Amino acid sequence: MRKINVFDTTLRDGEQSPGVTLNFEEKVEIGTQLERLGVDIIEAGFPATSEGDFQAVKRIAELVKDSSVTGLSRSLKKDIDASWEALKAGAEPRLHVFLATSPVHMKHKLNMTEDQVVETAVDSVKYAKERFPKVQFSAEDACRSDLDFLVRISEAVIDAGAEVVNLPDTVGYITPAEIQHIFRYLKENIRNVEHANLSAHCHDDLGMAVANSLAAIEGGADQVECAINGIGERAGNASLEEIAVALHTRSDFYKANTNLTLNEIKRTSALVSRVTGMQVPNNKAVVGDNAFAHESGIHQDGMLKEKSTYEIITPELVGVSSNRMVLGKHSGRHAFSEKLKELGYESTAEEVTKVFKAFKSLADKKKEVTDEDIFALMTEEKIDSTHTYYEMQALQVNYGTTYIPTATITMTDPEGEPIEEAATGSGSVEAVYNTIERIVGEAIVLKDYRIQSISGGEDALAEVFVTVEFQGEESSGRGTAHDVLESSAKAYINAVNRILARKPNQAGKTEKANV
Ligand code: KIV
Ligand code: ZN
Repeated sequence: MRKINVFDTTLRDGEQSPGVTLNFEEKVEIGTQLERLGVDIIEAGFPATSEGDFQAVKRIAELVKDSSVTGLSRSLKKDIDASWEALKAGAEPRLHVFLATSPVHMKHKLNMTEDQVVETAVDSVKYAKERFPKVQFSAEDACRSDLDFLVRISEAVIDAGAEVVNLPDTVGYITPAEIQHIFRYLKENIRNVEHANLSAHCHDDLGMAVANSLAAIEGGADQVECAINGIGERAGNASLEEIAVALHTRSDFYKANTNLTLNEIKRTSALVSRVTGMQVPNNKAVVGDNAFAHESGIHQDGMLKEKSTYEIITPELVGVSSNRMVLGKHSGRHAFSEKLKELGYESTAEEVTKVFKAFKSLADKKKEVTDEDIFALMTEEKIDSTHTYYEMQALQVNYGTTYIPTATITMTDPEGEPIEEAATGSGSVEAVYNTIERIVGEAIVLKDYRIQSISGGEDALAEVFVTVEFQGEESSGRGTAHDVLESSAKAYINAVNRILARKPNQAGKTEKANV
């Protein structure tokens, strides 16, 4: 079996997904979960682009011990220096430096000749090698580059000290047969290829990112770059979970494996989906809600007789457990803290006490509290309550088909002073949002509103995702509650708080990386 290194870029390319901006706590939560999942390399961000990214990469590098943490840099000394400052305390600091190699990028974007590109790439790798024990060079838009130029630049950067040469399909253009050929050709023709790993990084513009990554492995790739739930720039990156489970399920064919702990996949997917607000479609392979649901009578009959008739992946393999212990209102603190441990949380006694209180109040309203409910409570506790400039104390809404909806809300302001206001709207949610706007005293523009239930059933928790514009900035926000109006209010306030947290002198300042 060949060992394939998994390089996760959820926090860098994944964060480049339109509409996604993660704050410090969210990035750290995802970073530590990726370590638990067993990825070999975590690309934690792009340190030179913003103070927020720099701080998050630094914290993840300090915390994570079992994965190598890396940061992206352009081929510029100032980027490499910023990455070094962010990563130097890590267990295995690694730099990811890139420069484009395709004719269209060299001519129109870089305005550089092939010789200049090779020289700049080599200088960057040499400069990085003076600091970093591990350096990866990416030939941006490699899959639209001349093959012999790729051989030339790869040999040069390997001689300069690069341990990994990454060959991205930056625009998602390549086909499986072509990428397999590229990797075969490079493996056979790069003179010093035994001193470096070759890596694939595929985008999903034509829906072939996973197939292309697997074909690259067939062609000789030693590393694949991917993101949880396939998020990323435009149509996204290759889905980590699909590649991992394909390699596992078809190890007879690929003769390759990874270091991943596959039963952490579902939990990682749920976390990424919750914090990014990017819902996983029901029919998504491996992690979609329907991935293990058998609807037709013929299939159900087959499953009852012999599971292998219709099931090639078991839900348990990826951490979807069919006999989960569900908690309810009679569950005590001990059962609750055991459940948190089972779900992989390492919580302080103080955190358990706080979340247990929220759990008890939920269990009073909801018969069964599921793992998904507990994930939602923990996200609120560990992430959403970190920067609470405005906090809701009470909400009342009057609604009737023949009356104008009116909301009354009491909230504390950033100084902790309570403010009460009321406003009307054409619907209940609008009444709630108009009231919050009055309390905040500045225009808040709602750009997007989405609602979903957590874990199903009539008494399910409602989760609302919003995107708002406030003080000239855009942010997402999320809120979870038993009542849809309460979760709508919480999501709106969360979005405002996230923007306030980004302002100068506020912790958690994050600007979106821009590659
Ligand atoms: O898609 C791409 O080319 C990238 C590089 C910066 C690695 O994300
Ligand atoms: Zn990319």
